[in-house]
Amino acid sequence: MLKATTARPLPTPLSARRGSPLSGTAFVPGDKSISHRALMIGALAVGKTKISGLLDSEDVRATARALGALGATTLRSEDGTWHVCGTGVAGLRAPDDVINVGNSGTSARLLAGLIAGQPISAVVTGDASLRRRPMARVIEPLQRMGVRIEARNGGCLPMTVTGASDLISIEYKLPVPSAQVKSALLLAGLAASGKTTIVESQPTRDHSERMLRYFGAEIEVSGDIREGQRIVLTGQPELKSRPLIVPTDPSSAAFAAVATCLIPDSLVNLPGICTNPERTGLYLTLQEMGAHLDWSNEREDCGEPVADLTVKAGPLSGVAVPAERAPSMIDEYPILGVAAACAEGKTVMRGIGELRVKESDRLGAMARGLSACGVRVEEAPDALIVYGTGKPPTGGAKVAVGLDHRIAMSFLILGLVTEKPITVDDGRPIDSSFPSFTPLMRGLGANIASVI
Ligand code: S3P
Repeated sequence: MLKATTARPLPTPLSARRGSPLSGTAFVPGDKSISHRALMIGALAVGKTKISGLLDSEDVRATARALGALGATTLRSEDGTWHVCGTGVAGLRAPDDVINVGNSGTSARLLAGLIAGQPISAVVTGDASLRRRPMARVIEPLQRMGVRIEARNGGCLPMTVTGASDLISIEYKLPVPSAQVKSALLLAGLAASGKTTIVESQPTRDHSERMLRYFGAEIEVSGDIREGQRIVLTGQPELKSRPLIVPTDPSSAAFAAVATCLIPDSLVNLPGICTNPERTGLYLTLQEMGAHLDWSNEREDCGEPVADLTVKAGPLSGVAVPAERAPSMIDEYPILGVAAACAEGKTVMRGIGELRVKESDRLGAMARGLSACGVRVEEAPDALIVYGTGKPPTGGAKVAVGLDHRIAMSFLILGLVTEKPITVDDGRPIDSSFPSFTPLMRGLGANIASVI
């Protein structure tokens, strides 16, 4: 007898193989971190916020849906512009159902801070990957601010957040360099009557600070980066809607940039990239490896630095990446691993234990995937050493991506240079950050195709 089953979309394997040089101009979509913040801060502002260039991906849509459930409408026009109808800093309402943010850690952690400042209760959950990721890092400081949070096993999703509109302002030293934790506390701090102070010993992306300031909040940053930077937010501001332009995501552009470096005779333009110094560690590292990167037309859009990038192919050499650079390139280690596998000599990446708690254990996934492609690697709890020979690795592996978009894209880029093609078992996670990855890379000349 046939049994009823729940229909589940099937995995879609993708394969990448060597081909001709890459060329052209790639319009990489908007920055994921800035897109989440644009929707959330827009939701807390008074009035309607118009956003151009917002990343339209699964993760960002998860934030938009969550905000809708909390009473802030988000609308996408046919031309791709988004509009958020804000409710003011403490105007959100309790959702009717559980909020499921899928694969998106930024949505989950920042929403915890956003809900914290509202006199409501909400349950937040996510997919199997996100339910494994640590939430205690936001729960603990939010509880100090007077928020009630109950989480599965003390620190995993689902979590129930019960906020208040009169939170206690705290001073908090970040135990891990995390922009998500910092941003959750800043969003909660908007509802506190006094000043919320966050101290970070290693600087992390400051998109929330820049955007809150752009919307009229008072935020002061002082102190020395090495001894600890103090970020002080004055609570209960009135945030006023302002039009926003989201620049291109440097983390997504990194895939095309590394592919261009590695495929002989390639030349690619990547316009409008966000060059926030807390995001450009990979580009600095590629330059140290000998890559030909040419930045031009430097400008500023809505408080964020932006520039155009031209990348030219050329041989790379291994380097030692300083551990303190990790926060400025935390999402780029998988693609740096690919560059390192094709460079000549040893590339040492230290201080990267945080990679183990991303969408997957990225340190382990890179070590396993690179080894399967014939690359010599050494893995330590918080380090990865890749031994490149200056020649394309063998490849020929089938890589399990484990719900991780950046692992999938990194191994597809590696497959463009290896002797034998590389297959990733599932291309669907790519939609969480870069849905146009395959057509965009194919438009530059890359051989990436579905496996039938
Ligand atoms: C992000 C911060 C980083 C990064 C993530 C996006 C953000 O995470 O890995 O993809 O938007 O604030 P952590 O804060 O956990 O380092």
